[in-house]
Amino acid sequence: MHFETRLTRMLGIRHPIVMGGLTFYGRAELASAVANAGGLGMLTALTAGSPDALAREIARCRTMTDQPFGVNLTLLPTITPVPYADYRRVIIESGVGVVETAGRAPTEHIEDFKAAGVKVIHKCASVRHALAAERIGVDVISIDGFECAGHPGEEDIGGLVLIPATADKVRIPIIASGGFADGRGLAAALALGADGINLGTRLCATKEAPSHPNIKQIYVDKDERSTNLIFRSLKNTARVVKNSVSDEIVDRLAKPGAEFSDVAELAAGVRGREALVTGDTEGGVIWGGQSMGLIHDIPTCDELITRIVREAGSRIDLLQDSRKSA
Ligand SMILES: Cc1cc2nc3c(=O)[nH]c(=O)nc-3n(C[C@H](O)[C@H](O)[C@H](O)COP(=O)(O)O)c2cc1C
Repeated sequence: MHFETRLTRMLGIRHPIVMGGLTFYGRAELASAVANAGGLGMLTALTAGSPDALAREIARCRTMTDQPFGVNLTLLPTITPVPYADYRRVIIESGVGVVETAGRAPTEHIEDFKAAGVKVIHKCASVRHALAAERIGVDVISIDGFECAGHPGEEDIGGLVLIPATADKVRIPIIASGGFADGRGLAAALALGADGINLGTRLCATKEAPSHPNIKQIYVDKDERSTNLIFRSLKNTARVVKNSVSDEIVDRLAKPGAEFSDVAELAAGVRGREALVTGDTEGGVIWGGQSMGLIHDIPTCDELITRIVREAGSRIDLLQDSRKSA
């Protein structure tokens, strides 16, 4: 069985399940596994490291799947300038049909993507930003509730309100994101007015995730309480796995007058990356959301996506049956 929605039709995918942009994880192995399982796989442009390396990663992914996949282009305010125009050119020239933007509105990129026929999914964390993105012409909104790993914004609205509030206001298809990990979530998202779900944390605990087995296991062992919100005082809140490093970041930033420079060495991306490779669960910042409370195993992407779709179907059947007998 499968669900057909505006999203599956627009993107040509079998299931309304999308892989979020995942720093470190967004490489050909995981993206192609999600695509082969019928979801939308997603490479992460900045993880490739350069526009040329992204072109090679796209080509590598193509050798691993003939199904659609996209590229996440996270638009960050960084100290070292990122050659975004070159990344955009590579995405367009490679013929990838979908891009997920995040961080800020893709205002300066949208015209070129649209002219090339690339569908733009924009991920944001408020109805206001969703409406602004719709106005500039994005094709799909991915709306991230407060439960999510990564950047939930500063308004702290959980998915149960944020998703239908967005569906009420936005006319284009929406993807529910943040806290989704199983079929109950997919059924709920569709009931709330979304056209599909986005998976982040859940995919970090799959066989094809390119991280050390110790790291995959923390997503199974930890639960919904095991996250820290770091960088709150800097108005750049990020939800990450609770460990000694993220605890220390929270403590240091709680001191009056504390600045990013006080935690920069703890939060360094290279340190987090090293932890994912060596399996040192206390080695750096590790991204993860509240959906850790719903993760109990490390399946293949195919097992996971098949199970999510089957479970969503049986949940909906159950609800229908209970309605008849009431
Ligand atoms: C390991 C990891 C890395 C992430 N990296 C990015 C990123 O580079 N860009 C981005 O837009 N979102 C990133 N996110 C956020 C996800 O794309 C997604 O929005 C979020 O994980 C959804 O919430 P969930 O984790 O509850 O599924 C990351 C999330 C995780 C778990």
